[in-house]
Amino acid sequence: MKVLIAEDYNEMSKKASDILFHAIVTNKKVVLGLATGGTPITTYDLLVESIKASKQSLTHVHTINLDEYVGLQSDCRHSYHRFMEEHLFQHISIPTNQTHLPNGATTDLHIECQRYEELIASHGGIDLQLLGIGKNGHIGFNEPGTSFLTNTHIVNLTPSTIKANARFFSSIDEVPKQAITMGISTIMKSKCILLLASGKSKATAIKELLEGQITEKCPATILQKHPDLIVVADKDALSEVKEDTLEKLGKVQNELFFTKTTFS
Ligand code: PGA
Repeated sequence: MKVLIAEDYNEMSKKASDILFHAIVTNKKVVLGLATGGTPITTYDLLVESIKASKQSLTHVHTINLDEYVGLQSDCRHSYHRFMEEHLFQHISIPTNQTHLPNGATTDLHIECQRYEELIASHGGIDLQLLGIGKNGHIGFNEPGTSFLTNTHIVNLTPSTIKANARFFSSIDEVPKQAITMGISTIMKSKCILLLASGKSKATAIKELLEGQITEKCPATILQKHPDLIVVADKDALSEVKEDTLEKLGKVQNELFFTKTTFS
């Protein structure tokens, strides 16, 4: 595990976008696992800037998103399909048939979960998976108590996640109650994981991730076992973590370290 410390949200976003851009530039084919939510928005903005400035071709880039709400059509303004269009896809030219999200509007959700796992396998797995973290330690929509053995599956969102996501909707009643999400086992199979966290509200979850016991009560703790995890967090998100822990885990002060990871 490597922990990259940022001053604030903007610096976290710059470091994350540099890592994603590096993965795009240095690989002949790359499969990016992408995430939605408030955390990666500026990362995507900066990635778009880098891609445009360098005129980087994206014909070799494939994207597979973590999750999608159940019951929303892909063009619904609250769907994660729309989020990805607005924050990333419409600004750059990844071939449309190379961008993938779960279909939450399908009539057979179980077949969709199976299709999604097969889709990931048919791409040879995910090279670099971007993740946020919930205040309760969820990753994707894998809420506390989710088995570490799960593949892509349907989840009932917890009241705390519904409340946290209500900020993107006109009212809390509009927030879907279910989602399709990559499972924890699916996420753990990614070759490299890039987890982002910003702000005091994530401090307890980040402390658990870095210092806590590995337990299904805090899904993110399983990431301690991942062979190539990069945590990019700002000082507020790291405010509950002991300095000793950071030293032990391999705190890194600049981005150059990632040239030695999967994407060298
Ligand atoms: P956020 O969500 O980026 O909107 O804080 C992260 C998550 O719930 O995984």
